[in-house]
Amino acid sequence: MRKLLLQLDTSPHASVFDRVVAHDAGADAVMSYGGVTPEAVQDLVHGCIFTRGPKDLKNTAIFIGGTDMAAGEALLAAVEKTFFGPMRVSVMLDSNGSNTTAVAAVVKLERAAGGVNGKRAVITGGTGPVGVRAAGLLAARGSGVVMTSRRLEYAQAVARTTQDRFGGSIGAVHMAGAAAASETLEGAHILLNAGGAGVCMVPKAAWAGRGSLQAAADVNAVPPLGIEGVEVTDNGDAREGAAVFGALGVGGLKMKIHKRCIGRLFERNDLVLDAEAIDGVAKEFGG
Ligand SMILES: NC(=O)c1ccc[n+]([C@@H]2O[C@H](COP(=O)([O-])OP(=O)(O)OC[C@H]3O[C@@H](n4cnc5c(N)ncnc54)[C@H](OP(=O)(O)O)[C@@H]3O)[C@@H](O)[C@H]2O)c1
Repeated sequence: MRKLLLQLDTSPHASVFDRVVAHDAGADAVMSYGGVTPEAVQDLVHGCIFTRGPKDLKNTAIFIGGTDMAAGEALLAAVEKTFFGPMRVSVMLDSNGSNTTAVAAVVKLERAAGGVNGKRAVITGGTGPVGVRAAGLLAARGSGVVMTSRRLEYAQAVARTTQDRFGGSIGAVHMAGAAAASETLEGAHILLNAGGAGVCMVPKAAWAGRGSLQAAADVNAVPPLGIEGVEVTDNGDAREGAAVFGALGVGGLKMKIHKRCIGRLFERNDLVLDAEAIDGVAKEFGG
């Protein structure tokens, strides 16, 4: 039976990236819808669950994407609300690559630092989809997480809701720009830059040779890179006293995780792959 993936995307045009990865991961056909709102979900999901018998439902699955994480979460809630009894299919949420990228970055940082429990983790540009998920995953592992933002009140609210979901300790600090990075990194063991594409958030002088810093990762692949002095291809390279990762170094693992998760969707009909479950899938990969 053909494996069919229903792609529900909250942005006007469904992501081509997500569609290509879905095919590469084994989906035979991808049915892509853009601009999807929670109101539209019921009819779309009914098309999935009423077309194949319960035993065959594992051959249909749903992928939720789009640039807006909150909108993606609302779609996931609407999808789950539509399911009942055995009438369900597996579903994955990865708005803007947030879950797969955050999981890959956190797994890399954790391995390079020999664990993150009890360590201070600073996430620059932490209010975006990738930063928020990474903050949750690090806090759940016992890090004291601080996310930086140009909008303190907004970041405090984001930190609160993320901490409510993942547990642990997540705070927010105001960082107006790269000039304030040095002060923000005081005592940091872990640094993750999750700021917008093409923005240098952390100058080299702010992190190089900082005694406490064990591992740093930058997920911005667009020049100028987010952490000055970390190359896009770095993959655990030792630089300035820390193990560092660039966007392509993180991206290789992100792609493996993404594809493995798509494959998983077609193994059974009741999986919900959000940050925590995707983190579980990532643990299957070696270093
Ligand atoms: N390597 C991979 O596999 C992969 C996959 C997906 C995404 N990415 C990259 O990961 C990064 C994070 O993605 P995202 O979607 O979470 O990012 P995003 O939402 O575009 O940006 C994250 C945060 O960066 C801050 N920011 C944006 N522009 C800024 C500027 N000019 N100056 C200072 N701060 C700025 C904003 O925070 P405030 O407004 O609160 O200050 C924003 O909330 C991006 O660079 C993206 O390209 C990489």
